[in-house]
Amino acid sequence: MAQFIPVSTFDLVIFGGTGDLAQRKLLPALFHRDKDGQFTDDSRIVAASRGEMTNEQFVQLVRDALDTYLPADELDDAVWERFSARLRYQTLDITTPEGWQELARRLKKTGDERTRVFYLATMPSLFGESARQISENGLIDAHTRIVLEKPVGSDRESAREINDAVGQYFAESQIYRIDHYLGKETVQNLSALRFANALLEPLWNRTHIDHVQITVAEHIGTGNRAQFYNHTGALRDMVQNHMLQLLCLVAMEPPLSMSHDDVRNEKIKVLKALRPITADTAKRSTARGQYAAGAIGGEAVDGYADELGEKSEIETFVAIRADIDNWRWNGTPFYLRTGKRLPTKASEIVIQFRQVTHSIFPGQAGELQPNRLIIRLQPNEGMMLTMVTKEPGPGGFQLRSLPLNLSFNDTYQVRYPDAYERLLMEVLRGNPALFMHRAEVDAAWAWIDGIIDAWSEAKITPQAYAAGTWGPTGAIVLLDRDDRAWFEHDDDD
Ligand code: BG6
Repeated sequence: MAQFIPVSTFDLVIFGGTGDLAQRKLLPALFHRDKDGQFTDDSRIVAASRGEMTNEQFVQLVRDALDTYLPADELDDAVWERFSARLRYQTLDITTPEGWQELARRLKKTGDERTRVFYLATMPSLFGESARQISENGLIDAHTRIVLEKPVGSDRESAREINDAVGQYFAESQIYRIDHYLGKETVQNLSALRFANALLEPLWNRTHIDHVQITVAEHIGTGNRAQFYNHTGALRDMVQNHMLQLLCLVAMEPPLSMSHDDVRNEKIKVLKALRPITADTAKRSTARGQYAAGAIGGEAVDGYADELGEKSEIETFVAIRADIDNWRWNGTPFYLRTGKRLPTKASEIVIQFRQVTHSIFPGQAGELQPNRLIIRLQPNEGMMLTMVTKEPGPGGFQLRSLPLNLSFNDTYQVRYPDAYERLLMEVLRGNPALFMHRAEVDAAWAWIDGIIDAWSEAKITPQAYAAGTWGPTGAIVLLDRDDRAWFEHDDDD
């Protein structure tokens, strides 16, 4: 069994502690880490929120959340007793002083040198004020960290304002900006794949790779987030952070080491090399879509505008041809696509290698399929490499592409921890490697802002697609124009 190393005693304060993220992700993640014995007895979890609530009511709320979001066999009475004893509730309105004073009294009472983490699962407009209050209430010392949930801003300027505001009180090394994709096991595995296998890196460039596809598909709609989403859209919600992080990990040069600084420097170089998309190029290099009514898994579902209750010009789907203008990737496009209400939930990266230089096989051997490496991030985490083989039998030379399949689930047979489990532990340990530096956020917004401006200038509005399909026709045309096609699940073997 894996050995889990405990972290030093901490107070973790979650602002927005009764909200959706805390209930669905953070508290179940903390429960699991407690279950594996990683928390000292004195460590506490404090939820801060505006509503009036007693500790007992909060404990009950958390119990209900665990019952809802964790499978029954992952709950355990003895662990629950230990975990529930750590939970505290603090009524606090971030913008008024009373709750802060009480919180400060509570946190200072222990007198020991514990790690103090403030997790802001709130609207980004409250980040600056929260940082100020934390500072003015004397709660920042060498063991204090602050965690910022995404989105950090809605464009480069607002992100800078937030980062400046928080940066007035916290050093950059104390600020942990979450992109939960960086905590996913398979995303971490990308570095192992690229830099721990001598076989791939020599081929990992424009000479051998025709193009790369990165797909993050979801079958869910925007649900009760429709209003929030209407100010965000797929480009800001998914591309600015998760998809660009994936692109960076695939495209970056080998870093000097796995250290935070070395990896971040390489990622920033990729972001800076992204060719800007302008009003002149946006029509050819992007596709925007919005789901209309359709069917998912045999059930009829509403369109986005129906869920929202009004017409909207926000995209729930986006596809982009990204060109990286550097020595390694010039001429090898990266196609990104993400959307809600697509046929399935699947995130994967497809590395499409080039065709062999010259075929020596007779025409009847069949078409030569170039090799393709598929990295499945979720679900069924694993990798698949297609190889061309000869079909058995004496009936002439016939070629056939077959998959070499590596399923992490079958191989390791362990529970895959949720990304938040890893990220919370890294914050508590004080290890910033899996978080975004402000320079990364800034460089990512610079490219995204360009696309938003281009859409507005060229008046590109979302094209409708039926829920349960792979997005608008524009997405197909985007690749078709380059004589390529999106890889769909049933395309292989
Ligand atoms: C979040 C987005 O960051 O990621 C959501 O705001 C999206 O809109 C979610 O549904 C997807 O995360 P995952 O881990 O389910 O792929």
